[in-house]
Amino acid sequence: MAKPRTGWRCQQCGYGAPKWLGRCPDCGEFGTFVEEAVTSASVAVSRVVVAKPIRLGDVVSTNASRTATGIPELDRVLGGGLVRGSLVLLAGEPGIGKSTLLLQAAASLSSGGSSVLYVCGEESAEQVKLRAERIGAADGIMLLPEVDAAVIEATALAERPDILIIDSVQTMVDSSLDGVAGSVGQVRACAARLMHLAKSEGMTVLVVGHVTKEGTVAGPRVLEHTVDAVLSFEGDRDHVFRIVRAAKNRFGSVSEIGVFEMGERGLVGVANPSAVLLADRAVDVPGSCVLATVEGTRPLLVEVQALVTPSYLQMPRRLAVGVDNARVLQMLAVLERRAGLVFGQHDVYVSVAGGVKIAEPAVDLALALALTSARLDRALPAGTIAFGEVGLTGELRSVRHTQPRLAEAARMGLDRVFLAAPSGGSKAPAGTRSISSVREIPGIVGS
Ligand code: TYD
Ligand code: MG
Repeated sequence: MAKPRTGWRCQQCGYGAPKWLGRCPDCGEFGTFVEEAVTSASVAVSRVVVAKPIRLGDVVSTNASRTATGIPELDRVLGGGLVRGSLVLLAGEPGIGKSTLLLQAAASLSSGGSSVLYVCGEESAEQVKLRAERIGAADGIMLLPEVDAAVIEATALAERPDILIIDSVQTMVDSSLDGVAGSVGQVRACAARLMHLAKSEGMTVLVVGHVTKEGTVAGPRVLEHTVDAVLSFEGDRDHVFRIVRAAKNRFGSVSEIGVFEMGERGLVGVANPSAVLLADRAVDVPGSCVLATVEGTRPLLVEVQALVTPSYLQMPRRLAVGVDNARVLQMLAVLERRAGLVFGQHDVYVSVAGGVKIAEPAVDLALALALTSARLDRALPAGTIAFGEVGLTGELRSVRHTQPRLAEAARMGLDRVFLAAPSGGSKAPAGTRSISSVREIPGIVGS
């Protein structure tokens, strides 16, 4: 086959060059050149035909047919199962459990009657077999240790599996292009081939993509626009939970999460994460406050911890794990200015137990309570739980999903709830302490 003509294009400004350049002469960015196939303009123009648009009303709506993977936590994230002919990316750091989860899904789908072709470009068939024995996977899965995109495509077309799994996209190479496996150009070209298999041939394609700690490096990020759904694996190897979150989903909501625990026999879904997260919590210790957070539509109770110690540094240290550092700094400023608690001579450490990352503003109140409790060295009353956004003037704002948060707190037996005073004069739910400003915090801690 003749090698298609290729050129290099800056991904920042679109500047084209016949060969790779380290720095774009046009926009000045470094390392932005990606190899692309060149279609000559004259050829493209001669092929133009008038297409016939379709009236929206004439489009027959089909209910996307879904196949449940049989792993409830995974199905929840997918929005009920895998949609036929979709391309799903499973992204995450190396070693987090992507291969394990997909092999478990493959096993379950295979026992459910779907044909599965598992392309293991990263490992030998023997290595996959070892993992399969560990998790007790079915024998029906077809394995293909292969990295060449053309071979994979041809084999998939010959075998016609219902489900095609690629582990991983970074090991796949399109030999018609230069560039090592895993480079942006390669990943893109391979993704385009997989998209074709999914859309034209109706195969459901699951692709593994590695991301580094920094979340960059050629790979999943450049795929996100192409694929139908991006599931990202969060947490790290040393923590209890692995959370699978839908970062994008054309066929479902992006607000669902699946919670797993890595065990001796693969990943196990965790039905009651709050109980696991709160299991090792020390009660009656200063600097700890339970937060009722909501992940997707799922309430989750996590412990926010703060440690405030006298500082021996000119610039006191502020360190946050699991919440945004900026959020901690802001909360310290608000407490100092609006509640008179001074942290200027203290180092401050904040951590969310269990390796969970909290991004929602509802963490503010729990953070403020944990910081106050740590600063005053007084434990919060037993059974305390909090959620609410704190503004710069110290005012407290209510957050969404109050009911599920309260229900989860009640289920776990935590009954001293601090939340924002409901607006519009409506009454706070029974058993809750509503406060309207961060000023009221020191008093509460003392009570
Ligand atoms: P793996 O799925 O290979 O990670 P990835 O494909 O994301 O790189 O495995 C992740 C880790 O989990 C690996 O270090 C071994 C461990 N593991 C278990 O603890 N229990 C198990 O049953 C399996 C299969 C793996
Ligand atoms: Mg793997």
